[in-house]
Amino acid sequence: MKPISFISIVLLFFMSTSLTSCSDTATVEELSSEESIPADDENALALIDSKCFLCHNSNLDADARLAPPLSEIRTLYYRDDMSRGEFIASIANFVKEPTKEIALMSDAVSKYGVMPKQHYETADLQIIAGYMYDNDLSSDAWYTMWNSRQAKTTDSDYLKQGKEIALATKSVLGQNLMQALQKEGVMNALEFCTVRAIPLTDSMSVVLNAKVKRVSDKPRNPMNAASKEELEIMNRYNVQMKNKKTIQPEIKTYDDYVVGYYPIETNSMCLQCHGKVGKDVALQTDKMIKKYYPNDKATGYASNELRGLFVVEMQKR
Ligand code: HEC
Ligand code: HEC
Repeated sequence: MKPISFISIVLLFFMSTSLTSCSDTATVEELSSEESIPADDENALALIDSKCFLCHNSNLDADARLAPPLSEIRTLYYRDDMSRGEFIASIANFVKEPTKEIALMSDAVSKYGVMPKQHYETADLQIIAGYMYDNDLSSDAWYTMWNSRQAKTTDSDYLKQGKEIALATKSVLGQNLMQALQKEGVMNALEFCTVRAIPLTDSMSVVLNAKVKRVSDKPRNPMNAASKEELEIMNRYNVQMKNKKTIQPEIKTYDDYVVGYYPIETNSMCLQCHGKVGKDVALQTDKMIKKYYPNDKATGYASNELRGLFVVEMQKR
């Protein structure tokens, strides 16, 4: 399916390792006393979308899904004689501390494994479970509403979300690079200009199953060489920049995913590793770069030139 193999991070790995920190210690008893939390459907849907549907997605078929649909969970947990608070508590009880022993869905446990423990805010769980109590998620009406809501994610939404992901990556890279330059000097900072170590753990990246990479028409690392399609975009940007036009990120849509392209420009901080050799790039640095990257093409830049693209792949929803 995918045209390009990304070097980046499998997000589920991070979900299972990094989300268990605990600052939120409300007990299930406290949750059950919250009978009167007002329903806020739009907020609840947004929370369900970003926090539960990555795995409990009813739009995928059983084999593609990572967990049973929430409608099945509701059917199993809901009883007519239950109060809203009791229902919320029973869901939260499991989600706060999921174990095989207390799981009601033994088939799902053997098919998908037990739900990984993740950190959720108590207030969010109350809203989510409250919504599950109030709405029959297995009804056709709910499913139709959900589908039309999902279809509203447009290209411009993706362009915006991809931009946030690219900017977040850029700022982490920039910070790491600056700190490394300050603390250890250019020679030791070389490794910090790599995008591979950046975990995208924010919920938007997780939901979109986003992957980010950097490419260039003049790559230092041959693994970052731009594809034919990416080269076309860079060539066009270069012409536009020469003609003093502003360049705009763009988005391409494929069957089940979209890809955003965001220009990366040089600034003065880049030049000690990407500028003119012997002038901006010390000869000693150049020697070191050549040692690790014998085919380096990424020198000779001035400030405000097009150095490459952030390429952000997002799964369509
Ligand atoms: C990383 C994937 C993942 C995410 C995200 C996730 N779940 Fe689950 N969940 C699972 C899996 C897998 C199961 C089925 C196995 C099991 O029952 O433990 C499950 C089962 C459940 C069950 C039924 C447990 C039982 O067997 O009785 C509840 C309730 C539940 N999830 C609620 C939620 C809610 C609410 C959210 C969002 C706040 C959520 N889950 C997010 C993976 C996930
Ligand atoms: C300390 C040296 C250093 C500095 C400073 C530096 N880079 Fe790099 N850059 C590298 C190295 C080394 C690589 C190769 C990383 C890899 O193996 O993926 C690289 C790779 C890249 C790539 C990926 C494409 C390619 O050529 O492999 C881009 C894009 C890039 N740098 C942009 C920048 C920008 C923009 C700046 C300034 C904000 C900057 N770099 C500052 C050392 C540096």
